[in-house]
This record gives sequence, structure tokens and C-alpha cells, in this order.
Amino acid sequence: MGVTRRVFLAQGGMATMTLAMRQAISQAAPAIHESKERTQLNARSLALFVDPLPLPEIIQPSGHRPSPDNPTVRLPYYRVPMRQFETKIHRDLKPTRLWGYGATSPGPTFETRSGQGLLVEWANDLPSSHLLPIDHSIHGAEADKPDVRAVVHLHGAKAPPDSDGYPENWFVPGKSAVCYYPNRQDAAMLWYHDHALGINRLNVFAGLVGAFFVRDEFEDSLNLPRGEYEIPLVIYDRLFDLEGQLNYPVSGDAKSPWVPEVFGDAILINGKLFPYLEVQPRKYRFRVLNGANGRSFHLTLNNAQSPPPQAFHQIGTDQGLLSAPVALQRLSLAPAERADLIVDFSSSAGSNVNLKNDNLDVMQFRVAAKGPRDESALPQTLRPVPKILESSAVKTRMLSLVEIDDLVQRPVKMLLNNTHWSMPVTENPVLDSVEIWNLINTTDDAHPIHLHLVKFQILDRRAFNIAAYWMHNEITYKGPAMPPEPGEAGWKDTVRADPGMVTRIIVRFEGFTGRYVWHCHVLEHEDNEMMRPFDVVAR
Ligand code: C2O
Ligand code: CU
Ligand code: CU
Repeated sequence: MGVTRRVFLAQGGMATMTLAMRQAISQAAPAIHESKERTQLNARSLALFVDPLPLPEIIQPSGHRPSPDNPTVRLPYYRVPMRQFETKIHRDLKPTRLWGYGATSPGPTFETRSGQGLLVEWANDLPSSHLLPIDHSIHGAEADKPDVRAVVHLHGAKAPPDSDGYPENWFVPGKSAVCYYPNRQDAAMLWYHDHALGINRLNVFAGLVGAFFVRDEFEDSLNLPRGEYEIPLVIYDRLFDLEGQLNYPVSGDAKSPWVPEVFGDAILINGKLFPYLEVQPRKYRFRVLNGANGRSFHLTLNNAQSPPPQAFHQIGTDQGLLSAPVALQRLSLAPAERADLIVDFSSSAGSNVNLKNDNLDVMQFRVAAKGPRDESALPQTLRPVPKILESSAVKTRMLSLVEIDDLVQRPVKMLLNNTHWSMPVTENPVLDSVEIWNLINTTDDAHPIHLHLVKFQILDRRAFNIAAYWMHNEITYKGPAMPPEPGEAGWKDTVRADPGMVTRIIVRFEGFTGRYVWHCHVLEHEDNEMMRPFDVVAR
């Protein structure tokens, strides 16, 4: 039986360890999962910077097929098989069994242009048994469902509903699905990943992720670093056993192995542990994606010769360019968020710059002493981000984020608006209308909330009294409304809803009518009820 955390708050609130606390401990210390302690690899015991950073290959179409919009137009057609394979994630580890798109994880990168649609046939060529422990007590993953199921979502895409990877539209080994991505959207880094109901966290942890770039003329005109000077950095954490195999933690209850969060001590970049990259003393553009199940990253660049963290610039968010670059010394990214960065290595010629997460090394840039002239630019202004006016909103929704605990305060599930996945749709915005969504976070943890189909803007975050909210169902604010951080003040598709805060976003529901989903992007939460369908309805 679940009880909501409000009961404990009403009684004065015994302190539990928050997600951020557990996350901090897990990176530094090995094995926080007692039962696995003896077989768990301590990733921090491995040699640093012995493997070069891999760059996923750029995928090529295998042919052309008629466009669903207009059969006289032929679109590039790609076929991507999902496979199980083995790969070395570190020089000193045995090969790791993974799942991936193609035979790498991250899978191949898509390079596409705005307005140029394409078709992808995603084929499930996975084996018939799962790599990781399924919890059959979770909705959508019951024992009568096949263990191996997959469906692909292109995160950040404005795609028609039947190509959006609806979590119930999974397919089994031997089957495939063709998706149409019209790409009628601005240049941005999107990413594709699995979205199968009830096992999404396991499929992604097994490796089903990849990057997808949309380009456009506006971006081309800015003369940003490109080609070999533009590099995707897909970052996520994992746990491994002493054999170098994925070690997804379990609760200890064999009937419900689900755990509320997973934090690994092994932080991989483009699929390697502690890689290095040789760079020129010039500007680079890094497209950073937090692809972790639950971990937030706090990244800094550190040159051993000049201790304070090096400054860099953020030029874009989830959904494209900011209006102007933002100077940063530390980048925070919640799961599913992306950042577009310009890093200038010219002042570090001949030395090493380490990328750290929370002060622990995760990657090294080895800067050459001399290099060719840098012709690229860091423009002072980028792309206008016209504000969506609050006065244009036709509806304001109050949407709570809730954690349900058992009697000893262990989370058993998370809910949006106190509703389960299978309950009737409650969010039904009208096509082309603007709405304000108030994300009322009643829990102790931050939840990165993602809406499919749309891009949105963050209005503000404001602390409120949680106990009073539970008692009177009323919001009493405790402080001033805080504007988004400079690096969030652009187009977003995922927003950090901080604990004890109301986070307000403003959204125009454009593109398509039909059924989509919104959810927390901590995949353990999403899989256990923190996801809801929404309908975009015709005017
Ligand atoms: Cu990144 Cu619903 O997904
Ligand atoms: Cu998405
Ligand atoms: Cu969450």
C-alpha cells in the first residue's frame, strides 16, 4: 500500500536522503547496493584517459521512398537495426555486452536539415531475452508481455503522433516500424532513444540511445566551429560488475526489483569510460547531451596549470540557439537536457584540460602546442528568441508532481497530477493555442519534465509551502519568482522542476493534433507512473 509523502510532512517530516544526496555519494564511492558489493566494479580504480573519445559514425540513407505528405516527393530512407553486441568501454575491461542501434552505443548520428524530411525504419533485431532485470509488477511490463520490446522516440522532434514512439506502440524482435520525421523545426540537437512502456529505463541503460542533428541556414550563417571542430558529447553513468558487464541495481525484493533511481560511478562519454581527445588550440563547438537515467551532471573544465575552472560559453539549449552566448564556469544538465557549448582552447596550448563532473575527472582534452588559424566565430548575438507572452495563454494548468512512499518511506511510485498512466487523458490543449503549465513539485527531488512534440519557454520558479498545499489544495508562495537561469532562457523541451517549487512553462502546441506524452525524464520515475498521455485537439 502506498501513502503519499504528505503524511510524513504533516507529521513534521522525517528527513529522507534526497536524490541529490544519493547521487553525490554514488559517484565517489563504489557499491552502494549492498547485495552486489562484492561483484561490483569500482570504476574509479581504472586508469584515466587511456582510450580516445569515439565519435559515432554519421548514418547514410539506404535509399529513397515516397513522402507520406506528398508521394511525388522522395525522401531519404534509413534502416536502423537494434542489436546486441560486445564492445570495450575501457582498455582494461573485458568487452561489455550492450544493446545499440546498429552495433554501437551511442548509435549512429543523424545529420539532417530543417524542412527536409526523412524516413527511418527502426528494426528490432534484439535477442528474445532481456539483458537486465524486468519488474513485472510495473504497469505495462506484466509477465504476460514479451520481455524484449522496443519503440523509438526522437526526443525534441516535431513529429506526427504515429511516428513519435508512443510507449504502447512497442514491437518485438523480428518486427520493425517506419517513422516519418518532417524536420520542420529549427536547428537543434535532438536525440533518439527507446520508449517502451515499463522497461524504458532498462532498454536505455542497455544502450539504446543516439544523437540527431537538425541544421539550418541561420546556424550556417554564424560561422560557428564546424566539421572536425564540432563534437557531440553524449554523457551518461552506468554500473558495471567485475566482468565488465552492466550491473543494473535491484531493490532486493524479487517480486518488484524496481529501484527509484540509478546512479553509477562509471561516467561514459560517447560510450567510453574516461576518454581523451586531442584538440587544436582553438575554438570547438561541443554538443552535450545528458543521456543518463537519473544523474544530473555539473561539468567544469580544469587546466592543471591554472587552477580555477576555465570559462566557456553556452550558445544553445535543448531546442536550439540562445539569443546570445552565456559565459559559464560550470554547466548543470539534468537528464535529457542538451547544451551547445563553445570552448576556446587557445589559452591552453600545449597543456591538458580535464572535464570534471562534481570535481571528479571524466575526460581529458590534450591541447596541441600549435595549430592552424582559427577562422570560426563566437558571435555576440545568436538567434532571436521571441518571448511567448503570458497574455497569449488561453489556459493555465496546475499539475502536481507526487511521490508515493511505503510505510518506511521508500518510494513505490511517482505520479503526475495524482493520476496513473492508464487513466483518461486530462491534458488536451487545442492546436496552435498557448498554455501555461504550473509544475507543482511536492517531492524532495528535482524532476526533469519533458513534453513531446513542442518547444517551450520557462517563465519562472517559485518556492511554495508544500504542507499547506496538501491541506488546502492551495498554493502559498514562500519567496519571489525566480527567472530561468541564463543558459535556460531559450527554447526548451525538458525543464528541471525543482523540489518545493512551482515551475511555470509557457507552451504553444504546434505541429500536429493527436496523442503524445509528457513525463519525468528520470527513467525509473517515468517507467513507474510518472508519465501521462496528452492530446492535441483540433480547434
Ligand atoms: Cu526523451 Cu519521452 O523522451
Ligand atoms: Cu521526447
Ligand atoms: Cu522524476
